[in-house]
Amino acid sequence: MKKFISPSLLAADFGNLKATCEMINNSEAHWLHIDVMDGTFVPNISFGFPVIEAAKKYCTKPLDVHLMIVHPEKYISRFAKAGADILTFHYETVENAFEIIEMIKSEGIKAGITINPDIPVSVLEPYVDKVDLVLIMTVFAGYGGQIFIEESYNRIAELKEIIKRKSANCLIEVDGGVSELNAKKLFDNGVNVLVAGSAVFKASNPIETIHNMLNK
Ligand code: DX5
Ligand code: ZN
Repeated sequence: MKKFISPSLLAADFGNLKATCEMINNSEAHWLHIDVMDGTFVPNISFGFPVIEAAKKYCTKPLDVHLMIVHPEKYISRFAKAGADILTFHYETVENAFEIIEMIKSEGIKAGITINPDIPVSVLEPYVDKVDLVLIMTVFAGYGGQIFIEESYNRIAELKEIIKRKSANCLIEVDGGVSELNAKKLFDNGVNVLVAGSAVFKASNPIETIHNMLNK
């Protein structure tokens, strides 16, 4: 089973983007997670194209871009050109998720779909065999540093069941409140990709934390 770590840039020191990317390059992290927030779908505003372009310049690992924006269809091509390797959108923000998935794939990059904790996992059923990745939010999208919602384990199990039933092979990613404390349990429950912001970037030794999350 694939076990990936995708540290979330949201919790990093924005004054040192180059050093952050170099740390990621030198670590066992597989991807760099980049949270794009628009102040409309979520109350918070984070960053956009110039930051992704700068990360692309220095980061040798794939950029795992998580869109928390309304009308993602307007910007897919620009996110791809800015350097996104994986582009994940919220099911809640679109009218026709099939079209969005096709638009992302037509850019030659990987497509992901995600839902907030209050959306039934069953809505994802039609898409699991069309996407490369399904992201189960383990906090409500919008802010770093929130507490992991324990009910998420049931949602992960439900998603695994759907993926199995449909013989799909998308990766399962979780995002929010992930740390060294729950990394092993999440991998043991079949999660492939752990996003971790605060746990990595607020740690005294981020490289060691990433290693521990993969090996504990
Ligand atoms: C929340 C973002 C997360 C966030 C996770 O809306 O999608 O990626 O950075 O932060 P932590 O790991 O601190 O919960
Ligand atoms: Zn995220």
